[in-house]
Amino acid sequence: MAGAGPTAVLSSGKKMPLLGLGTWQSKAEEVYNAVKVAIDAGYRHIDTAWVYKNEKEVGQAIKEKIAEGKIKREDVFVTTKLFTAFSRPEHVRECMMQSLADLGLDYVDLYLIHSPLCFKYGSNPFAHAGNPEEVYDEVDYVDTWKGMEPLVDEGLAKSIGVSNFNKQQLERLVQNCRIKPAVNQVELHPYLAQQDLVDFCKRNNVLLTAYSALGAPARPKSFASGEEEPVLMEDPSVVAIAKKYGKSSAQVLLRYHLDRGVSAIPKSVTPSRIQANFDIMNFSLSKEDLASLGQLDRKLRYVGANLFVKHKFFPF
Ligand SMILES: NC(=O)c1ccc[n+]([C@@H]2O[C@H](COP(=O)([O-])OP(=O)(O)OC[C@H]3O[C@@H](n4cnc5c(N)ncnc54)[C@H](OP(=O)(O)O)[C@@H]3O)[C@@H](O)[C@H]2O)c1
Repeated sequence: MAGAGPTAVLSSGKKMPLLGLGTWQSKAEEVYNAVKVAIDAGYRHIDTAWVYKNEKEVGQAIKEKIAEGKIKREDVFVTTKLFTAFSRPEHVRECMMQSLADLGLDYVDLYLIHSPLCFKYGSNPFAHAGNPEEVYDEVDYVDTWKGMEPLVDEGLAKSIGVSNFNKQQLERLVQNCRIKPAVNQVELHPYLAQQDLVDFCKRNNVLLTAYSALGAPARPKSFASGEEEPVLMEDPSVVAIAKKYGKSSAQVLLRYHLDRGVSAIPKSVTPSRIQANFDIMNFSLSKEDLASLGQLDRKLRYVGANLFVKHKFFPF
């Protein structure tokens, strides 16, 4: 994976570039261009999901970059996610096949259970006008995982993992699986350092991927925590460290993850930002600066706190 920046070897034995492009809320017409710009800038890891409704355009951009000779299929690490309304083991393959068809790929590099929460098959909680409680389904994520493992056996997913799992949920899964989860993708940044989870994942060889690493400044209102929400990129300590290194706040926040051994998937559809967010390979943060970022932890969740995290099936 030449030009991919630093990589990690997953428990599956596959290599994953630590820095990737996020695509949540990237509109279809924007994401096509964003993925092409990202590949030209050196990104070799693209993160999408069934529920982002942009897999077709993500796939089209990758296909064109392969046709141009810029990359080969094996050079780019593609992650997508099982939507929570397909959590019953018998529905997992259906969601995977829809994603593969939309992406125009024979396999994905990483397939994640999007959330330990489960919604009823065929339901769309985001469009649900009534009581959201009505869409929840009580499926054990250990059973969902039993639908994920055969995807690796069939070669449809090179690695499998989870997203939005806390330490207890991950621990229970690790103890009750045939194929270990290679990755856990969660919200992670200096305001939500989750040191316990970081330590647990290191001990158990589960690579953490940080989402909302820049503080998700464009998150929908319904995803906000409802608490006072300081702007991460404007935090005085982040700004001061950025000034010291001659970098932007975003670059420092991304470097924080790489220096912590964590993957990060900043989202942007703005070419200059996509390029700048990848331009972090020529510096690293000192121990002192990492420690001072470590002091900013305030257990602040920017995304999903009200909607999902406080739900009875989501025991953070
Ligand atoms: N597994 C999950 O449940 C889950 C949940 C949330 C996110 N994710 C994944 O993680 C990715 C990233 O998280 P996120 O989208 O929540 O938020 P994020 O990456 O923290 O922030 C994205 C926002 O920051 C802006 N931005 C990007 N680079 C910037 C820069 N250098 N300077 C200033 N602003 C900048 C973007 O604007 P423009 O696009 O307008 O440039 C966009 O509005 C998602 O896209 C998705 O792939 C996964």
